[in-house]
Amino acid sequence: MPKIKFTIITLFEEALRPYLEASMMWKAAEKGLAEFEFVNLRDFGLGPHKSVDDTPYGGGDGMLLRCEPVFAAIESVKEKDPSAKVILPTPAGHLWTQNYAKKLAKIGESTAPAHYIILCPHYEGYDERILKLVDHKISLGHYVLTGGELPALIIIDSVVRLVPGVLGGETSAEIESFSDNENELIEFPQYTKPADFRGDKVPEILLSGHHQKVDEWRKAHTKKALD
Ligand code: ADE
Repeated sequence: MPKIKFTIITLFEEALRPYLEASMMWKAAEKGLAEFEFVNLRDFGLGPHKSVDDTPYGGGDGMLLRCEPVFAAIESVKEKDPSAKVILPTPAGHLWTQNYAKKLAKIGESTAPAHYIILCPHYEGYDERILKLVDHKISLGHYVLTGGELPALIIIDSVVRLVPGVLGGETSAEIESFSDNENELIEFPQYTKPADFRGDKVPEILLSGHHQKVDEWRKAHTKKALD
């Protein structure tokens, strides 16, 4: 059983696959630490055109995701795993943070593998009644995207990298030691070879091999995220 599973309900699987099938997400799946599954919302569409959206009551621009296909798609996943939790990317959600990612990664908990269903809305929005199915409403920031696919990838990436074994040999306890603060977001300047690039030299101290001095230098040069 993987440590974490994401079932992504979307109309645009082809937009998600390339990212999940490359680099660290691919490796996490190869190692059996993460599993990614797709459900095509269109399969649950209505009528001969497999329609998934309609116009809003009361008027207004654009189309909204209808309840029936969304409920049927989520129910089909929950039938197999009633413990799966539903994530809805929406600009009206809780702001996505490193601490939220840690919560969903269940770092330090030795419970059953976590299974999240991410419902990717498209069009102008969704029928409000689908919120009855949602456990986590997540906003990626104060801007509006055309759909939930990019937020889904960001949520998946930031959670999967926290699963012990995905990045390297770190233990869950080591990751947990960051969990009370935002230390993980703090960075210090780093350099690799060459030591002199067009006259721009790497600070001497980093070439010294003196670990304590290197640590002190890094502490003194930590950067906070910009506003
Ligand atoms: N869907 C559209 N815009 C979004 C945002 N900023 N965050 C999450 N989901 C979205």
